[in-house]
Parts: sequence; C-alpha cells; structure tokens
Amino acid sequence: MNVNLLDLKAQNGALEPELHEAFLRVLRSGHFILGAEVERFERALAEFTGAKYALGVSSGTDAILVALMALGIGPGDEVLCPTFTFFATAGCVARLGAKPVFVDSCPVCFNLDLRDAARRMTPKTKAILPVHLFGQAADMDGVLALARERGLRVIEDTAQAIGATYRGKQAGTLGDFGTISFFPTKNLGALGDAGAVLTNDQALFERARVLRMHGMEPKYYHAHIGGCFRLDALQAALLAVKLPHLNTYAAARRRNAALYTAQLSKLPGARVARTEDCGCVHAGTAPDVARFVLPTAYPHNGHTWNQYTLRVTGAGQRDALRAFLTARGIGSEIYYPVPLHEQKCFAGLGFKRGDFPVAERLAGEVISLPIYPELPAEQIEHVCAAIAEFFGN
Ligand SMILES: Cc1ncc(COP(=O)(O)O)c(C=O)c1O
Repeated sequence: MNVNLLDLKAQNGALEPELHEAFLRVLRSGHFILGAEVERFERALAEFTGAKYALGVSSGTDAILVALMALGIGPGDEVLCPTFTFFATAGCVARLGAKPVFVDSCPVCFNLDLRDAARRMTPKTKAILPVHLFGQAADMDGVLALARERGLRVIEDTAQAIGATYRGKQAGTLGDFGTISFFPTKNLGALGDAGAVLTNDQALFERARVLRMHGMEPKYYHAHIGGCFRLDALQAALLAVKLPHLNTYAAARRRNAALYTAQLSKLPGARVARTEDCGCVHAGTAPDVARFVLPTAYPHNGHTWNQYTLRVTGAGQRDALRAFLTARGIGSEIYYPVPLHEQKCFAGLGFKRGDFPVAERLAGEVISLPIYPELPAEQIEHVCAAIAEFFGN
C-alpha cells in the first residue's frame, strides 16, 4: 500500500461543483484582481478569525513583508524570529534591510523559546515574529508580555496555523498583525498562491492596504513605496468556497493525529512529548532516553495539526527511518533540515553552529508523517505498522 504525504485532489474534488461555479462566476465577471470577490472573502475571513480586519494578499510571504513594511521595519532594525522555521519568516526581514535575530526553539512545541528571545534583545530590536509552527500556537502571553515590556511590535506568522487557538482566541489575532498562507498544502489551501494579513488596528490595516498596491492612494499618487501584493479574484472566490469547511478539515487532522499517537505511543521506545518539559526551556543537548518522541498539544492550545512531527533520537536514526518509509512507498518530509542561522545566505549575520542547540538538534531529529484530512485510517495504521517494524517491534 502506498501512502502519499499529501493528496490535494481528494479535498478539492469533493467541492468540484462549487469550485467550478466560483470559477465561472469570476470568468464571466471579467474582474480578476481584487474587487468584490476579494472583499467578500476578506469579510468571511475576518468573521472566521474574529479579527477586525482581514486583507487578502498574494502569498503568505508577502503577508509577512507587507506587515513588516506597515510597521516601518527597515535598515538598522532587528527582528527576533525563530531559526527553526520556513525561510520566509526571516527572508522577509532581511529583504527590508533589517536583521533577523534568530532565537532557539522549545523541544516540546517546536516554537520560539522566549527566554532565549529575551537574552538576544538589543536596543535595535523593534519587533518579534513568533511562528505558530505545525499548527500549534506559540506562547502568546509570553510574547505579548515581552513586547509590552520592551516596546516591541508583534507579527504572528500564522502561515501554518489558520484556525488554531491560543487560550480560546484565534492565532494571528493577538499581535499587531497575523499573517496567513493559503499555499495549497496549508490547512486552508488555495489553488495557487494566496495569503492574508489580519489586524485589529484600523490605522495599520489602512497602511497595509495601501502598501498592497504600490503605496498608491489615490490612483497614481504614491506617498509611500509599496509593492504588488494583490490577491486574485479567482483565488478569493475559490477560498470562499473552502473556508466554511475549514473546521471540518481541522477536526479530521485532529482525529488523524490522535490515531497516530494512540498507535505509536504503545511501541517500546516511544514517548509523548511532556508539556512539563516546556515552559519553552532549553533542554540542552542531553541525549533523550526515548527512541522517538511523539508531538503533543498544550491543553490551552487548539492545535490544527498542519503537520504531525516526530522526533527520532540517536545519530542517523531519523534519516534511516525516512529511507525505510520511502522504500515502502510511504511519504514523509523533513520540516526543516537546516535551521536558518546555518543557511548560506545568512552567513554574514554573525551566528554559528552551536548557537541554537535545541533547533540544531530538532533539525536532525524531526520527521513529518502524512496527516491530510482525507487520509484513510487504514493508511495511518499502515504507516504505524511500518514504524513499528523499523524499531524492531
Ligand atoms: C512558517 C511559514 N511562514 C511563511 C510561509 C510562506 O507562505 P507562502 O508559501 O504562502 O508564501 C510559509 C509557507 O510555507 C510557512 O510555512
């Protein structure tokens, strides 16, 4: 039995008549960029998240970029962000001429280690950019307290966590901005590139809105330099069809995660990550007694499981497991094999191997398993059986 990491056809196929209708509506409208379809989707997204304002943009990357621009981040500024994340988080900071100052991660939730963030602050620090990695919110009380204390702006990179909650509130609605990606593999996936910015601040919303279209207001008058960050009407119309199903998709992901944990936690050598190991503390590089560690959700978080990510301890073991699964036709992925402070393009920032012990360890231990909502239970059982075989059970 082959098990694919993803199957986007299953989800979109189930909505084909509505998606088709939305496509025809846009086709026949003759209006393809921004406009009524985008505004309708923005209203629906604001309602879903509880944010006062939602702004459709061209991608999750451009959402981060426009948020940083609206906050006036630029040369001479420093922005705290995790080193264990997708490139876009820090890439946007660097593109604006500011310095991404990397922060180590929590070994339990994979999110920003706030004690490390506090240590890395300087008088140049202007903002903090937590990422709600894999669908679980970062410690936002801690982020907001640090931001208040030190006068920082907060951008929540919610690319992987639309619909996730933190103490009952939607991820992406707690900072100055939340940024969302609708990349096709995300929990709410477009049929191409798309993204959004959330905010509760009217002035910031207006600034982001103008920056989305070359800083132009009114037409052909430019008081600011913006970019081309517009959302297509077609993507907005298609996303509006899928948004009402997002909670159902998240529930299916939760069910799949629970199934993995129930099966895998029975295996000798397995351990579910202990929330008491967090507080986002440094676990250092001490060897873990478990052979593999299963992901967990904090009780105060509504986890949306964009990824189900194991940690496989022991030198070379993660890569051996991945090769074993691949040989059996089981898809998996490594998010992320190289922390950002070790990326060639950031070599000039002054960070080196050894500076972020938890993130470096995670990069060598993590492996994400198939978890998309439509994944049949028997395929999850098949993946678990293969993992059991690998560990000799
Ligand atoms: C954490 C994180 N930030 C930003 C992005 C960028 O989103 P997009 O691919 O829509 O530009 C992604 C997408 O993979 C992501 O995972």
